[in-house]
Amino acid sequence: MPETVLVTGGAGYIGSHACVALLEAGYRVVALDNLSNSKREAIARIEEIAGASLVFEQVDLLDRAGLEALFRNHAPNAVIHFAGLKAVGESTEQPLRYWQNNVGGSAVLLDVMRRSGVRKLVFSSSCTVYGAPETLPLTEEAPLQTVNPYGRTKLAVEEMLRDLHASEPGWNISILRYFNPVGAHPSGMIGEDPLGIPNNLMPFITQVAVGQRERLSVFGGDYPTRDGTCIRDYIHVLDLVDGHLKALQWLEGKPGIGAHNLGTGQGQTVLEVVKGFERATGVSIPYDIVERRPGDAPAVFADPALARRELGWSAELGIDAMCADAWNWQQKNPSGY
Ligand code: NAD
Ligand code: UD1
Repeated sequence: MPETVLVTGGAGYIGSHACVALLEAGYRVVALDNLSNSKREAIARIEEIAGASLVFEQVDLLDRAGLEALFRNHAPNAVIHFAGLKAVGESTEQPLRYWQNNVGGSAVLLDVMRRSGVRKLVFSSSCTVYGAPETLPLTEEAPLQTVNPYGRTKLAVEEMLRDLHASEPGWNISILRYFNPVGAHPSGMIGEDPLGIPNNLMPFITQVAVGQRERLSVFGGDYPTRDGTCIRDYIHVLDLVDGHLKALQWLEGKPGIGAHNLGTGQGQTVLEVVKGFERATGVSIPYDIVERRPGDAPAVFADPALARRELGWSAELGIDAMCADAWNWQQKNPSGY
C-alpha cells in the first residue's frame, strides 16, 4: 500500500502544488481545506494535471469531530500542514482570528494526530520567524524574533512542536521555513489566486501585466541595496513543494525534529524582479517608486546549505521560470479560478 498523506490547506496556493507532486510521486492524498481562502475548483485541476484522484474533505481544523472522522476514515500515515491564514496586515487587525486559526487549529490537529497514532509531520513555517535579520544569509541558527501577529503565530506553532517532541520523542517533525514562494505549475492550471488587492509582489506584477491594475508601486527606493529597492529570496513553488517531498523522505530516517530554510540563497531586488518579468514575458510593467512599506526589512535571503546537506534538496529554477510560470497562470486565469 502506498503511504497516505494528509495535506491540510490542500486547495490553497502551495498545498495544491504539493498535492500534484505527491500524486505524481505515487502517494495517496487526502486534502483537507475549509475553503476560506481557496476554491474547490483547484481540487478538480489538481486531479486533471496529475491524472489521478485524491480524497477531498471540506473540514475546518477547529472542527475536532470532523478531523477525528477524517483520520478514522482515511488513516493517513503522515501530515503536511499548510492550512493557515497568512496576510500580515490582516493579522495586525484581527490578531485573535490569527491566533485561534493558526495556533488553535494546529493544536487541534496535533492532538488528533496523537490520538490516532500519527506522528510524522511537515509544517509550513516562514522566514518571517527571523524578523529583520542582523546577518545575511540567514542560517537556521539566526535568532528568532517576530515583528507581527502572523509571524508570532508561526513561531508559536514551531515552539508547540518543539514542546511536543520533547514530551513524546516518537514524533518526527520537519519545520520548513519558506522564503518568498512565487510562480505556478507550468500547465497554468493552478496558481496563486489572492482575494482582492494582492499584498505580495509577484501577484501584483501579474495583475498589472494582465491589465487589472495600472501600475506597480515599488515600496521604497532608498534602501541600502544595489538599486535602492528591497532584496528577497524568491523561490519557485515547484522547487518549494519538492522540498516537502524530500522532507517526507527525511522523516523516514526518524530524525526527531528539525527546521530547514527553503530558499534559493539568491536575493533579487524588486526592480530585478520587474526586469526579470519583462525579460521572461515581453510585457512591460509600469511602476512608481513610492514610500517604504512599514515593517519591510531591506534584505532577506536564505543560506539553504542545511536543506541541501540534510534533505538532499536545492532549488533548481531561476527568476525567469518563476516569472514565466506566474504569467502563464495569470493569462490563462485572468480573474483566478
Ligand atoms: P493559501 O491561503 O493559499 O492556503 C492556505 C489554505 O488553508 C487555504 O486554502 C485556506 O482555505 C486553508 N485554511 C486556512 N485555515 C484553515 C482552517 N482552519 N481549516 C482548514 N483549512 C484552512 O496560502 P499558501 O500561500 O498556500 O500558504 C500555505 C502555508 O504556507 C500557510 O501556512 C502559510 O502561512 C505558509 N507560508 C506561505 C508563504 C507564502 O508566501 N505563500 C510564505 C511562508 C509561509
Ligand atoms: C511578506 C510578508 C512575510 C511573508 C512573505 C511570504 C510582509 C511585511 N511580510 O514578505 O511575512 O512571510 O510575504 O512571501 O507583508 N513590494 C512592492 N510593491 C508591492 C508589493 C511588494 O514594492 O506592491 C515589495 C516589498 O516592499 C518587498 C518585496 O516587494 O520588498 C516583496 O514583498 P512581498 O511579496 O509582500 O513579500 P515580503 O515582504 O518578503
